[in-house]
Amino acid sequence: MKRVFSGARPTGKQHLGNYLGAIQNYVRLQAEYQCVYCIVDLHALTTLEDTRDLKQNIRDMALDWLAAGLEPQKSIIFVQSHVPEVTELHVLFSMITPLSWLMRVPTFKEKAKSQPHNVNYGLVGYPVLMTADITLYKAEVVPVGEDQIPHLELAREIVRRFNTLFGYVFPEPEAKLTTFPIVLGLDGKEKMSKTAGNVIELALSPEELTEKIKTAVTDTARVFRRDVGHPEVCNIYRFHKYFNPSQSDEIAQQCRTAQIGCVDCKTVIAREINNALAPFRQHRAEFAARKGYVEEVLADGARRAQAIASETIREAKEKMGLL
Ligand code: TRP
Repeated sequence: MKRVFSGARPTGKQHLGNYLGAIQNYVRLQAEYQCVYCIVDLHALTTLEDTRDLKQNIRDMALDWLAAGLEPQKSIIFVQSHVPEVTELHVLFSMITPLSWLMRVPTFKEKAKSQPHNVNYGLVGYPVLMTADITLYKAEVVPVGEDQIPHLELAREIVRRFNTLFGYVFPEPEAKLTTFPIVLGLDGKEKMSKTAGNVIELALSPEELTEKIKTAVTDTARVFRRDVGHPEVCNIYRFHKYFNPSQSDEIAQQCRTAQIGCVDCKTVIAREINNALAPFRQHRAEFAARKGYVEEVLADGARRAQAIASETIREAKEKMGLL
């Protein structure tokens, strides 16, 4: 069975965008691959100056993953820093990675612009650490969003270089594009993201979710109840397509003819999303209430990850002449 590796920065409670995109995809891949899913706390440090929420964010993310259906018996679920071999491999790779490759990476250039006061050394090495993440487990398949393609390209180049210089150790990892619909946030403008402040968190109660949905921007051309709507430009309508597919044509028609208003439409979709999330919420509450459960899952994941990691590190060091 081929191995999948994917990592996500611990951004805390996950939102509908994460769920429809990355998380559901992670869940599906478990049927076909041996999956390793990592909460990359070290990567988070490249942009964090205040780490007070980090621990809670890691726990929240793990809870959301588990509640969504990542299975700790099947997949390895762990926290990056719990398997410190990754930092060792990062150093080894750093010696064969030209600085010029790293300076060209689009995300580095963006971050250098957005946090000019904190262009740290770790930020430059971000893709090298990511390469170490993947290769430590000799993963061949890496589910990621489009923004991560340059990182994957770089990972392949580092791997090729290592294998050529010292002998074959690592398979070249391949990106598996997550073909998910871009979910826009409550503002109906930007992609749903915590930084944009437009998210619908999965962990909300049904009442909170309904309230949130009420604040969502719809078709901005529809001002009064009697105005006809344009579902094709309405973000709430997109949610109907995912969460209420059997009724979405009817809703569109009623919106176009002003038979229903935005409030009616939102009431329906809030109910549908709440129905869809009911099992998730129940699992999340159960896992959160079991004392020590998340910690146990992550500790077990780290143990299993480390068993693979220590083998790989030994092999890499041997090839490099260190052992
Ligand atoms: N850079 C990825 C992101 O921002 C997170 C990440 C870290 C990752 N290591 C990884 C993704 C390894 C895939 C494989 O989303």
